[in-house]
Amino acid sequence: MINHETIDNIIQTARIEEVIGDFVTLRRRGVNQIGLCPFHNEKTPSFTVSPAKGIYKCFGCGKAGNSVNFIMEHEHFSYPEALKYLARKYNIEVEEEEQTPEQLQELNEKESLYNLNLFAQLYFSKMLVESEEGKAIGLTYFKERGMRDDIVNKFQLGFSPEKWDAFSIYAIQQGYKKEFLMKTGLSIEKEARLYDRFHSRVMFPIHSASGRVIGFGGRILGNDKSHAKYVNSPESEIYNKSKTLYGIYFAKNAIISKDNCLLVEGYTDVISMHQAGIENVVASSGTSLTHDQIRMIQRYTANISILYDGDPAGIKASFRGIDMIVEQGMNVKIVLFPDGEDPDSYARKHHPNEVESFIATNAVNFILFKTRLLLGETQNDPIKKAALIKEIVNTIALIPDGISRSLYVKECSTLMTIPEQVLMTELNKILRAKLKKSAPELDREAEVIQPEQFVTEPQLDIDPDSAEYQEKEIIRMLLLFGHEVIRIKLNSIDEEEVPVGVADYVVHDIMHDDMEFENPLYKLIFDEYARGVENDAIPDRARFISHDNPEISTLAVDLVFSPYELSVNWLKNNILVTTEESRLHMHVMLAIHAFKARKLDKMMTGIRKKISQTSSPEEQDALMKVFHDLKKQSIQINKDGLGRIITR
Ligand code: CTP
Ligand code: MN
Repeated sequence: MINHETIDNIIQTARIEEVIGDFVTLRRRGVNQIGLCPFHNEKTPSFTVSPAKGIYKCFGCGKAGNSVNFIMEHEHFSYPEALKYLARKYNIEVEEEEQTPEQLQELNEKESLYNLNLFAQLYFSKMLVESEEGKAIGLTYFKERGMRDDIVNKFQLGFSPEKWDAFSIYAIQQGYKKEFLMKTGLSIEKEARLYDRFHSRVMFPIHSASGRVIGFGGRILGNDKSHAKYVNSPESEIYNKSKTLYGIYFAKNAIISKDNCLLVEGYTDVISMHQAGIENVVASSGTSLTHDQIRMIQRYTANISILYDGDPAGIKASFRGIDMIVEQGMNVKIVLFPDGEDPDSYARKHHPNEVESFIATNAVNFILFKTRLLLGETQNDPIKKAALIKEIVNTIALIPDGISRSLYVKECSTLMTIPEQVLMTELNKILRAKLKKSAPELDREAEVIQPEQFVTEPQLDIDPDSAEYQEKEIIRMLLLFGHEVIRIKLNSIDEEEVPVGVADYVVHDIMHDDMEFENPLYKLIFDEYARGVENDAIPDRARFISHDNPEISTLAVDLVFSPYELSVNWLKNNILVTTEESRLHMHVMLAIHAFKARKLDKMMTGIRKKISQTSSPEEQDALMKVFHDLKKQSIQINKDGLGRIITR
């Protein structure tokens, strides 16, 4: 724990333009400095740094924050890591809060394990290139597999000699403790003697995301079937297999810049891809991805392409695992390699450009891939086809985002030649069942709805693309938090805060400015809330979830179902908003501000057009006045500094 004085000191000392200047070329513009945003692709600079305020903000992608946030975002550091980075830059001594003896011991122990692994990695690498045995057996093996020296070095590959205790003895001689040799799993104790876990193997160190060696995989040489091909380090305090991805340290920057992560099976696939110049690649080490591994990838991108060697049966077996990736909100693509080839063998046989273009042209969206593969097996058998529909819709139902879901329904309905509405009905059933399971109190009335109703009800004809994001946010606030209470100041003079219901506040604030919803569905829901507020009977979510207009019920299910977390910290004028209630307050404000800002923009565009069209000076004058009024409101909203954050 870094203590508070140190944190304050770091934040006060760090000059934002210097911190960012290390990564972005900044030019002065007025009181600010601008440059090309490092967080998204742009040709004209919209990334703005304010030295006076100590903050940055990109008007292209919306990223914003202070020095610490920048380093966290840019370097993918945790909060304490970012602070330590800045402390080092400014030569500030980091004072850590007193830790309990247990904490200290744990920390020391971890450090000891890291140290020992580093020592082991250096030993194995040295053995590979300096010992006769290593050169003759290990290095020859890598060469035969076509691995270049620079790649062997980059991945810190090594060799463990045949002698069964060579490493253990050397490590003890060098003063490393038996306790840690056991805990890292580098040594095994048998009858009071230490043995090496790895011998006669080429060694693949496994790195954490920050590049420390946390474990090893050791591959047997050649194809000796009597021993396991790979021996891996056991789990330890620093190596948790299900939270580790092989290659993540070498891949993370490329994953960010390509905005895609390639997933392969093994060590050698990762390495061969790097050798072919493809660096956004990690390995799951032969198993399907865990929840934690997916989250790790998610820190860098929402897109993942899974590379398979051409065996449909194997892929079918992994459908469930992939479903889980979809469920976590990732866009999953499948790349199928020609029969008998895996990424490793393919990359060795083909020119790097061919590998890259093969992946690019063969990546198929998972849901469409699955649909096609299963469809090929139904052969017009109606029972099989019904099962297929269930199967596919089940997967679609996992997608957290409603818009994506409806896009897949569209595409799959075309692929399967099944009316969209049939899939939609099926999808609604599943979503409802889930909602009931996760939040039964929301679904009291939903039970009475017969699915048939959905197809027979008249449809409101709405283009889903017209669903304005800002309007949706307001509705979401109402549905999720309408009954909650926030405290607000009634005016800027009053010091006292009064409690008011969220629905109350939102409805009054929006009606006060006479702003109408464009999307008829959202308008319908909003109007119901407005009536409710007026009659002191704020509607319940359940009313919308089981609404007799199927479009409304679908929408409500969708909005209530989509995960919505109040962000942990909001930076409001550099004050950290931390309590649950003030965060909710902030979200409500943001939603309203964004809604209004957008409305005002639209209105102003309309007026501008009218001004240019009229030739009557009086009319122009009148329009100009309206325009200025709108402009004033809009400036006010942006002055609060809130509007932009979610209008992006
Ligand atoms: N694996 C393992 N233990 C095994 C077999 C496999 O841990 N006994 C893991 C390794 O991480 C391996 C991955 O599963 O990299 C994929 O296995 P495989 O395709 O058999 O190995 P490759 O990495 O392709 O190795 P090679 O090409 O040298 O056969
Ligand atoms: Mn292989």
